[in-house]
Amino acid sequence: MARPTPYYPLFERLFRHSVTVDLGTANTLIYTDDGGIVLNQPSVVCFQKEPAAGAKRVAAVGTEAHQLLGRAPRNLEAVRPMRHGVIANFSAAEHMIRQFVDMARPRPLFSRRAAFTLCVPGGATQVERRAIREAALAAGAWKVSLIGESLASALGAGLPVAEATGSMVVDIGGGTTEVGVIALGGTAYSGSVRVGGDNFDAAIVSYVRNLYGVLLGEQTAEHVKKTIGSALRDVPLEHMNATGRSADDGLPRTVQLSNHDIADAIDVPLRQVIGAVKRALETAPAELVTDIADNGIVLTGGGSLLANLGRRLTHEIGLEVRVADEPLTCAVRGAGVAAASGLLDEAGYE
Ligand SMILES: Nc1ncnc2c1ncn2[C@@H]1O[C@H](COP(=O)(O)OP(=O)(O)OP(=O)(O)O)[C@@H](O)[C@H]1O
Ligand SMILES: [Mg+2]
Repeated sequence: MARPTPYYPLFERLFRHSVTVDLGTANTLIYTDDGGIVLNQPSVVCFQKEPAAGAKRVAAVGTEAHQLLGRAPRNLEAVRPMRHGVIANFSAAEHMIRQFVDMARPRPLFSRRAAFTLCVPGGATQVERRAIREAALAAGAWKVSLIGESLASALGAGLPVAEATGSMVVDIGGGTTEVGVIALGGTAYSGSVRVGGDNFDAAIVSYVRNLYGVLLGEQTAEHVKKTIGSALRDVPLEHMNATGRSADDGLPRTVQLSNHDIADAIDVPLRQVIGAVKRALETAPAELVTDIADNGIVLTGGGSLLANLGRRLTHEIGLEVRVADEPLTCAVRGAGVAAASGLLDEAGYE
Protein backbone atom coordinates (compact mmCIF):
# COMPACT_ATOMS: atom_id res chain seq x y z
CA MET A 1 0.00 0.00 0.00
CA ALA A 2 1.45 3.38 -1.01
CA ARG A 3 1.82 5.76 1.88
CA PRO A 4 1.86 9.54 1.51
CA THR A 5 5.28 11.11 2.04
CA PRO A 6 5.36 12.37 5.60
CA TYR A 7 5.38 16.12 6.03
CA TYR A 8 8.26 17.43 8.05
CA PRO A 9 8.82 21.10 8.79
CA LEU A 10 11.97 22.52 7.16
CA PHE A 11 13.99 22.47 10.37
CA GLU A 12 13.13 18.86 10.97
CA ARG A 13 14.03 17.89 7.40
CA LEU A 14 17.44 19.54 7.65
CA PHE A 15 18.36 18.19 11.06
CA ARG A 16 16.34 15.02 11.24
CA HIS A 17 18.23 12.60 13.34
CA SER A 18 16.18 10.23 15.39
CA VAL A 19 16.97 7.90 18.22
CA THR A 20 14.78 5.31 19.85
CA VAL A 21 15.25 4.69 23.55
CA ASP A 22 13.98 1.85 25.72
CA LEU A 23 14.47 3.26 29.18
CA GLY A 24 13.97 0.08 31.17
CA THR A 25 14.05 -0.59 34.88
CA ALA A 26 17.06 -2.87 34.42
CA ASN A 27 18.56 -1.93 31.04
CA THR A 28 18.55 1.03 28.66
CA LEU A 29 18.91 0.44 24.93
CA ILE A 30 19.31 2.98 22.14
CA TYR A 31 18.56 2.21 18.52
CA THR A 32 19.19 4.31 15.42
CA ASP A 33 18.10 3.67 11.83
CA ASP A 34 21.62 3.51 10.49
CA GLY A 35 23.44 1.94 13.44
CA GLY A 36 20.92 -0.56 14.84
CA ILE A 37 21.40 -1.06 18.59
CA VAL A 38 24.10 1.45 19.44
CA LEU A 39 23.85 1.22 23.23
CA ASN A 40 22.84 -1.51 25.68
CA GLN A 41 23.72 -0.69 29.29
CA PRO A 42 22.32 -1.26 32.78
CA SER A 43 20.06 1.63 33.91
CA VAL A 44 22.36 2.84 36.66
CA VAL A 45 24.07 6.18 37.24
CA CYS A 46 26.67 6.90 39.89
CA PHE A 47 27.11 10.39 41.36
CA GLN A 48 30.07 11.93 43.13
CA LYS A 49 28.81 13.40 46.38
CA GLU A 50 30.00 16.99 46.60
CA PRO A 51 27.85 18.55 49.30
CA ALA A 52 29.75 21.84 49.22
CA ALA A 53 29.40 22.34 45.47
CA GLY A 54 25.67 21.73 45.52
CA ALA A 55 25.37 20.28 42.02
CA LYS A 56 25.94 16.57 41.60
CA ARG A 57 28.61 15.30 39.24
CA VAL A 58 28.17 12.06 37.30
CA ALA A 59 31.06 9.74 38.16
CA ALA A 60 29.96 6.70 36.13
CA VAL A 61 27.02 5.39 34.16
CA GLY A 62 25.82 2.05 32.80
CA THR A 63 28.02 -1.02 33.29
CA GLU A 64 30.63 0.91 35.25
CA ALA A 65 27.99 2.32 37.63
CA HIS A 66 26.30 -1.10 37.91
CA GLN A 67 29.51 -2.56 39.29
CA LEU A 68 29.34 0.06 42.05
CA LEU A 69 25.78 -0.85 43.14
CA GLY A 70 26.01 -1.96 46.75
CA ARG A 71 29.79 -1.49 46.61
CA ALA A 72 30.21 2.28 46.19
CA PRO A 73 32.69 4.05 48.47
CA ARG A 74 31.25 6.73 50.71
CA ASN A 75 31.86 9.62 48.33
CA LEU A 76 29.94 7.90 45.52
CA GLU A 77 26.26 7.09 45.24
CA ALA A 78 24.97 4.55 42.67
CA VAL A 79 21.33 5.09 41.74
CA ARG A 80 18.81 3.16 39.64
CA PRO A 81 16.58 5.98 38.35
CA MET A 82 13.80 3.69 37.07
CA ARG A 83 11.37 1.59 39.12
CA HIS A 84 8.61 -0.54 37.63
CA GLY A 85 9.27 0.88 34.18
CA VAL A 86 8.77 4.51 35.19
CA ILE A 87 11.00 7.27 36.53
CA ALA A 88 11.57 7.11 40.27
CA ASN A 89 14.35 9.72 40.38
CA PHE A 90 13.88 12.47 37.80
CA SER A 91 17.26 14.18 38.04
CA ALA A 92 19.13 10.87 37.95
CA ALA A 93 17.09 9.76 34.91
CA GLU A 94 17.86 13.01 33.08
CA HIS A 95 21.61 12.68 33.77
CA MET A 96 21.57 9.05 32.74
CA ILE A 97 19.77 9.69 29.43
CA ARG A 98 22.11 12.57 28.63
CA GLN A 99 25.20 10.43 29.23
CA PHE A 100 23.82 7.48 27.28
CA VAL A 101 22.89 9.62 24.28
CA ASP A 102 26.42 11.10 24.35
CA MET A 103 27.89 7.58 24.44
CA ALA A 104 25.70 6.50 21.53
CA ARG A 105 26.49 9.48 19.30
CA PRO A 106 28.44 8.44 16.24
CA ARG A 107 30.67 11.56 16.40
CA PRO A 108 31.19 13.99 19.26
CA LEU A 109 30.02 16.88 17.08
CA PHE A 110 26.86 15.06 16.11
CA SER A 111 24.01 16.84 17.84
CA ARG A 112 22.46 15.44 20.98
CA ARG A 113 19.32 17.29 19.94
CA ALA A 114 17.60 14.39 18.26
CA ALA A 115 13.94 13.44 17.89
CA PHE A 116 13.37 10.76 20.50
CA THR A 117 10.96 7.86 20.47
CA LEU A 118 10.65 6.32 23.91
CA CYS A 119 8.93 3.13 25.04
CA VAL A 120 6.49 3.52 27.94
CA PRO A 121 4.66 0.86 29.90
CA GLY A 122 0.93 0.72 29.05
CA GLY A 123 0.18 1.08 32.77
CA ALA A 124 2.13 4.34 33.18
CA THR A 125 -0.02 7.22 34.46
CA GLN A 126 -0.23 10.61 32.72
CA VAL A 127 2.12 12.05 35.32
CA GLU A 128 4.63 9.23 34.75
CA ARG A 129 4.40 9.70 30.97
CA ARG A 130 4.99 13.42 31.33
CA ALA A 131 8.03 12.74 33.52
CA ILE A 132 9.56 10.48 30.86
CA ARG A 133 8.86 13.06 28.15
CA GLU A 134 10.33 15.88 30.23
CA ALA A 135 13.43 13.92 31.20
CA ALA A 136 14.14 13.34 27.50
CA LEU A 137 13.56 17.04 26.71
CA ALA A 138 15.84 18.05 29.59
CA ALA A 139 18.49 15.66 28.26
CA GLY A 140 18.44 17.46 24.91
CA ALA A 141 15.64 15.94 22.80
CA TRP A 142 13.83 18.50 20.68
CA LYS A 143 10.84 16.30 20.01
CA VAL A 144 9.56 13.30 21.93
CA SER A 145 7.14 10.56 20.86
CA LEU A 146 6.02 7.79 23.15
CA ILE A 147 5.10 4.26 22.11
CA GLY A 148 3.51 1.55 24.24
CA GLU A 149 5.97 -1.15 25.25
CA SER A 150 3.61 -3.98 24.21
CA LEU A 151 3.19 -2.70 20.68
CA ALA A 152 6.94 -2.10 20.38
CA SER A 153 7.74 -5.57 21.73
CA ALA A 154 5.24 -7.23 19.40
CA LEU A 155 6.82 -5.48 16.40
CA GLY A 156 10.31 -6.43 17.57
CA ALA A 157 9.23 -10.04 18.02
CA GLY A 158 8.08 -10.10 14.40
CA LEU A 159 4.37 -10.58 15.17
CA PRO A 160 1.89 -9.64 12.43
CA VAL A 161 0.75 -6.48 14.23
CA ALA A 162 -0.85 -4.83 11.20
CA GLU A 163 -3.17 -7.76 10.52
CA ALA A 164 -6.68 -8.21 11.87
CA THR A 165 -5.58 -11.38 13.67
CA GLY A 166 -4.98 -10.81 17.38
CA SER A 167 -1.49 -11.49 18.78
CA MET A 168 -0.56 -11.63 22.44
CA VAL A 169 2.83 -10.50 23.66
CA VAL A 170 3.96 -10.73 27.28
CA ASP A 171 6.98 -8.54 28.06
CA ILE A 172 8.60 -9.51 31.36
CA GLY A 173 11.12 -6.83 32.28
CA GLY A 174 13.02 -6.04 35.45
CA GLY A 175 10.20 -4.13 37.11
CA THR A 176 7.04 -4.67 35.08
CA THR A 177 5.18 -7.32 33.15
CA GLU A 178 3.16 -5.98 30.26
CA VAL A 179 0.53 -8.08 28.57
CA GLY A 180 -0.67 -6.70 25.25
CA VAL A 181 -3.12 -7.91 22.66
CA ILE A 182 -2.31 -6.33 19.33
CA ALA A 183 -4.39 -6.21 16.16
CA LEU A 184 -4.70 -3.85 13.17
CA GLY A 185 -1.56 -1.94 14.18
CA GLY A 186 -2.93 -0.95 17.58
CA THR A 187 -3.21 -2.18 21.14
CA ALA A 188 -6.63 -3.76 21.69
CA TYR A 189 -5.87 -4.69 25.28
CA SER A 190 -3.06 -3.75 27.57
CA GLY A 191 -2.59 -4.83 31.14
CA SER A 192 0.39 -4.62 33.40
CA VAL A 193 1.55 -5.66 36.83
CA ARG A 194 4.42 -4.02 38.63
CA VAL A 195 6.24 -7.33 38.93
CA GLY A 196 9.30 -8.44 36.98
CA GLY A 197 12.71 -10.04 37.29
CA ASP A 198 13.72 -7.70 40.15
CA ASN A 199 10.90 -9.17 42.23
CA PHE A 200 12.20 -12.67 41.53
CA ASP A 201 15.61 -11.57 42.87
CA ALA A 202 14.04 -10.02 45.98
CA ALA A 203 12.00 -13.20 46.56
CA ILE A 204 15.20 -15.29 46.40
CA VAL A 205 16.87 -12.96 48.93
CA SER A 206 13.99 -13.30 51.40
CA TYR A 207 13.68 -17.09 50.87
CA VAL A 208 17.36 -17.68 51.64
CA ARG A 209 17.21 -15.32 54.64
CA ASN A 210 14.15 -17.09 56.08
CA LEU A 211 15.35 -20.63 55.42
CA TYR A 212 19.09 -20.39 56.05
CA GLY A 213 19.50 -17.12 57.96
CA VAL A 214 21.82 -15.83 55.24
CA LEU A 215 21.46 -12.45 53.60
CA LEU A 216 22.37 -12.53 49.89
CA GLY A 217 23.11 -9.38 47.88
CA GLU A 218 20.64 -8.64 45.08
CA GLN A 219 23.23 -9.23 42.40
CA THR A 220 24.10 -12.62 43.89
CA ALA A 221 20.40 -13.51 43.91
CA GLU A 222 20.11 -12.45 40.25
CA HIS A 223 23.14 -14.59 39.36
CA VAL A 224 21.55 -17.61 41.09
CA LYS A 225 18.29 -16.99 39.21
CA LYS A 226 20.03 -16.81 35.84
CA THR A 227 22.16 -19.89 36.56
CA ILE A 228 19.75 -22.40 38.11
CA GLY A 229 16.42 -20.50 38.32
CA SER A 230 13.40 -22.47 37.14
CA ALA A 231 9.71 -21.67 36.80
CA LEU A 232 8.88 -25.36 37.32
CA ARG A 233 9.74 -27.59 40.25
CA ASP A 234 9.23 -30.77 38.27
CA VAL A 235 12.71 -30.79 36.65
CA PRO A 236 15.98 -32.69 37.32
CA LEU A 237 17.75 -31.38 40.42
CA GLU A 238 20.67 -28.93 40.00
CA HIS A 239 22.69 -27.18 42.67
CA MET A 240 24.97 -24.18 43.10
CA ASN A 241 26.63 -22.36 45.99
CA ALA A 242 25.88 -18.78 46.94
CA THR A 243 27.65 -16.66 49.53
CA GLY A 244 26.03 -14.04 51.71
CA ARG A 245 26.22 -12.74 55.26
CA SER A 246 25.03 -14.77 58.20
CA ALA A 247 22.19 -13.08 60.10
CA ASP A 248 23.63 -14.59 63.32
CA ASP A 249 27.18 -13.34 63.43
CA GLY A 250 27.44 -11.10 60.34
CA LEU A 251 30.20 -13.29 58.88
CA PRO A 252 30.26 -14.58 55.28
CA ARG A 253 28.49 -17.90 54.84
CA THR A 254 27.99 -20.12 51.79
CA VAL A 255 24.76 -22.03 51.22
CA GLN A 256 23.94 -24.67 48.64
CA LEU A 257 20.78 -23.86 46.67
CA SER A 258 18.86 -26.01 44.19
CA ASN A 259 16.67 -25.18 41.22
CA HIS A 260 13.76 -26.58 43.27
CA ASP A 261 14.52 -24.02 46.02
CA ILE A 262 14.44 -21.21 43.46
CA ALA A 263 11.14 -22.44 41.98
CA ASP A 264 9.65 -22.29 45.50
CA ALA A 265 11.25 -18.93 46.25
CA ILE A 266 9.85 -17.15 43.19
CA ASP A 267 6.44 -18.77 43.26
CA VAL A 268 4.55 -15.71 44.55
CA PRO A 269 5.80 -13.13 41.98
CA LEU A 270 5.58 -15.79 39.26
CA ARG A 271 1.91 -16.36 40.07
CA GLN A 272 1.35 -12.60 39.73
CA VAL A 273 2.83 -12.73 36.22
CA ILE A 274 0.68 -15.73 35.31
CA GLY A 275 -2.35 -13.96 36.82
CA ALA A 276 -1.79 -10.98 34.50
CA VAL A 277 -1.82 -13.32 31.47
CA LYS A 278 -5.00 -15.04 32.67
CA ARG A 279 -6.67 -11.68 33.25
CA ALA A 280 -5.79 -10.59 29.72
CA LEU A 281 -7.34 -13.76 28.28
CA GLU A 282 -10.50 -13.16 30.32
CA THR A 283 -10.81 -9.48 29.45
CA ALA A 284 -9.58 -9.03 25.87
CA PRO A 285 -12.19 -9.05 23.06
CA ALA A 286 -13.43 -12.61 22.45
CA GLU A 287 -12.56 -12.74 18.73
CA LEU A 288 -8.97 -11.79 19.47
CA VAL A 289 -8.73 -14.38 22.25
CA THR A 290 -9.82 -17.02 19.72
CA ASP A 291 -6.93 -15.93 17.46
CA ILE A 292 -4.53 -16.16 20.41
CA ALA A 293 -5.76 -19.68 21.19
CA ASP A 294 -4.78 -20.60 17.61
CA ASN A 295 -1.49 -18.71 17.43
CA GLY A 296 -0.20 -18.97 20.96
CA ILE A 297 1.58 -16.38 23.11
CA VAL A 298 5.00 -14.79 22.60
CA LEU A 299 7.24 -13.84 25.53
CA THR A 300 9.75 -10.97 25.38
CA GLY A 301 11.92 -9.08 27.91
CA GLY A 302 14.77 -10.46 30.00
CA GLY A 303 12.42 -12.18 32.42
CA SER A 304 11.28 -14.50 29.61
CA LEU A 305 14.74 -16.13 29.77
CA LEU A 306 13.88 -17.76 33.11
CA ALA A 307 14.21 -21.50 32.49
CA ASN A 308 10.94 -23.41 31.94
CA LEU A 309 8.76 -20.30 32.01
CA GLY A 310 7.08 -21.15 28.70
CA ARG A 311 6.31 -24.68 29.92
CA ARG A 312 4.90 -23.37 33.20
CA LEU A 313 2.61 -20.95 31.37
CA THR A 314 1.45 -23.63 28.94
CA HIS A 315 0.73 -25.86 31.92
CA GLU A 316 -1.32 -23.14 33.63
CA ILE A 317 -3.28 -21.71 30.70
CA GLY A 318 -3.23 -24.51 28.15
CA LEU A 319 -1.93 -22.40 25.25
CA GLU A 320 1.25 -22.67 23.24
CA VAL A 321 3.95 -20.27 24.47
CA ARG A 322 7.24 -19.38 22.81
CA VAL A 323 10.06 -17.03 23.71
CA ALA A 324 10.91 -14.43 21.02
CA ASP A 325 14.36 -14.36 19.44
CA GLU A 326 16.62 -11.90 21.30
CA PRO A 327 13.92 -11.07 23.85
CA LEU A 328 16.00 -8.38 25.60
CA THR A 329 16.10 -6.16 22.50
CA CYS A 330 12.58 -6.65 21.08
CA ALA A 331 11.07 -3.45 22.49
CA VAL A 332 13.76 -1.05 21.23
CA ARG A 333 14.01 -2.71 17.81
CA GLY A 334 10.22 -2.67 17.44
CA ALA A 335 9.96 0.97 18.51
CA GLY A 336 12.73 1.83 16.05
CA VAL A 337 10.85 0.15 13.22
CA ALA A 338 7.66 1.98 14.21
CA ALA A 339 9.44 5.34 14.31
CA ALA A 340 11.10 4.83 10.94
CA SER A 341 8.08 3.49 9.07
CA GLY A 342 5.45 5.94 10.29
CA LEU A 343 3.27 2.82 10.26
CA LEU A 344 1.94 3.47 13.72
CA ASP A 345 1.60 7.24 13.67
CA GLU A 346 -2.08 7.12 14.51
CA ALA A 347 -2.42 3.98 16.54
CA GLY A 348 0.81 3.83 18.43
CA TYR A 349 2.01 7.29 19.30
CA GLU A 350 1.09 9.95 21.74
N1 LIG B 1 18.80 -15.76 31.77
C1 LIG B 1 17.94 -15.10 32.53
N2 LIG B 1 17.11 -15.77 33.36
C2 LIG B 1 16.24 -15.13 34.16
N3 LIG B 1 16.10 -13.79 34.18
C3 LIG B 1 16.89 -13.06 33.37
C4 LIG B 1 17.85 -13.68 32.50
N4 LIG B 1 18.51 -12.70 31.81
C5 LIG B 1 17.98 -11.52 32.24
N5 LIG B 1 17.02 -11.74 33.17
C6 LIG B 1 16.26 -10.73 33.91
O1 LIG B 1 15.62 -9.86 33.01
C7 LIG B 1 15.40 -8.60 33.67
C8 LIG B 1 15.78 -7.47 32.74
O2 LIG B 1 15.01 -7.56 31.59
P1 LIG B 1 14.79 -6.29 30.63
O3 LIG B 1 16.10 -5.73 30.24
O4 LIG B 1 13.85 -6.73 29.56
O5 LIG B 1 14.07 -5.30 31.66
P2 LIG B 1 13.79 -3.74 31.47
O6 LIG B 1 13.27 -3.50 30.10
O7 LIG B 1 14.98 -2.97 31.88
O8 LIG B 1 12.65 -3.54 32.57
P3 LIG B 1 11.15 -2.97 32.41
O9 LIG B 1 10.66 -3.33 31.06
O10 LIG B 1 10.40 -3.64 33.51
O11 LIG B 1 11.28 -1.51 32.66
C9 LIG B 1 16.25 -8.61 34.93
O12 LIG B 1 15.41 -8.79 36.06
C10 LIG B 1 17.15 -9.83 34.72
O13 LIG B 1 17.51 -10.44 35.97
MG1 LIG C 1 11.43 -3.40 29.18
